[in-house]
Amino acid sequence: NKPVVWVSRPTFESEIARLWPHFEVHEESQEVKFTSAELATRLAACDAAIVGLKERIGAAELAGAKRLRIVANLGVGYDNLDVAALTAAGVAASNTADVLNESVADYAWALLLGAARRIGAAERWLRAGQWRATEFRGWLGTDVRGRTLGILGMGRIGQAIARRAQGFGMPVLYHNRSRLPEAIERECRARLVDKATLLRDSDFLVLVLPLTPQTRHAIGAAELAQMKPTAVLVNVARGGIVDDAALAAALREGRLAAAGLDVFEGEPHVHPDLRTLDNALLSPHIASATTDTRRAMTAVAVDNVLASFGHGPHAGHPPNLLNPEALATAGATSHPT
Ligand code: GLV
Ligand code: GLV
Repeated sequence: NKPVVWVSRPTFESEIARLWPHFEVHEESQEVKFTSAELATRLAACDAAIVGLKERIGAAELAGAKRLRIVANLGVGYDNLDVAALTAAGVAASNTADVLNESVADYAWALLLGAARRIGAAERWLRAGQWRATEFRGWLGTDVRGRTLGILGMGRIGQAIARRAQGFGMPVLYHNRSRLPEAIERECRARLVDKATLLRDSDFLVLVLPLTPQTRHAIGAAELAQMKPTAVLVNVARGGIVDDAALAAALREGRLAAAGLDVFEGEPHVHPDLRTLDNALLSPHIASATTDTRRAMTAVAVDNVLASFGHGPHAGHPPNLLNPEALATAGATSHPT
């Protein structure tokens, strides 16, 4: 009578296989957008869940989840989880911090360079059969080298993005809730500034903030108005940090040169104005999507599930716990293993 793990989406079987000796594993065989009621039913029938960002889990979804011990999120951002509700229910939560830092930093640069050099629009034009002659003054983009890189949200991903800027000879400004240790600032060659300065002085502004009530629309019409009309905005963080309607207006009216966006408000829906703009380079939330990184994210989720049931090298201590308090609560209600 093994405990049950529900895996909400197809992942990497080589990692999921590590659960088999200890758990009955119920895996979804395709990507499904579950309703709240469907989620509640599934969570009520398992002892651990490995979920993705499309699974929004709060008190309603947890109401019948009497056996549930841990929800392991396949993502570093966890705005899909109501951590307070999970803690109150005695359910641990974990994320996949750190294993995706380098892949996401690479991708931020891909969007930055792609938006600066208009790669998306040029490719669409070529594919549409519009290439007759190469115009000397056609497809002019923006140079990157030596320009100022701004980073809003200077966690590990922001730092990895900053390190790459040295290869482009770019000074780096950042704004963050707290100042980085001096050694890291020196290594990243990054300087803390207030948000107004960041907006005003950045030629390229990359967003790497978690989505919280405080960061919602951190970039809206007022912030966009403070940016240079030649600036490029890159969002690899979360939809909702940017007011997409305000951004589309700024891009359309030439108040901002370009944007590279991997995340959107209400995705997979994308604001229709953004979809029509050639100076917006758009991708479907894939910044961490490399084979190695998505496998590593699965491994982290599996490690956290194993650990919360006393198995594996981290037995008893899930390494990516978001709410250590939950374990105390859980211990009190003591689930049988
Ligand atoms: C992806 O968006 C993540 O948070 O890992
Ligand atoms: C992103 O969420 C970070 O902390 O860098």
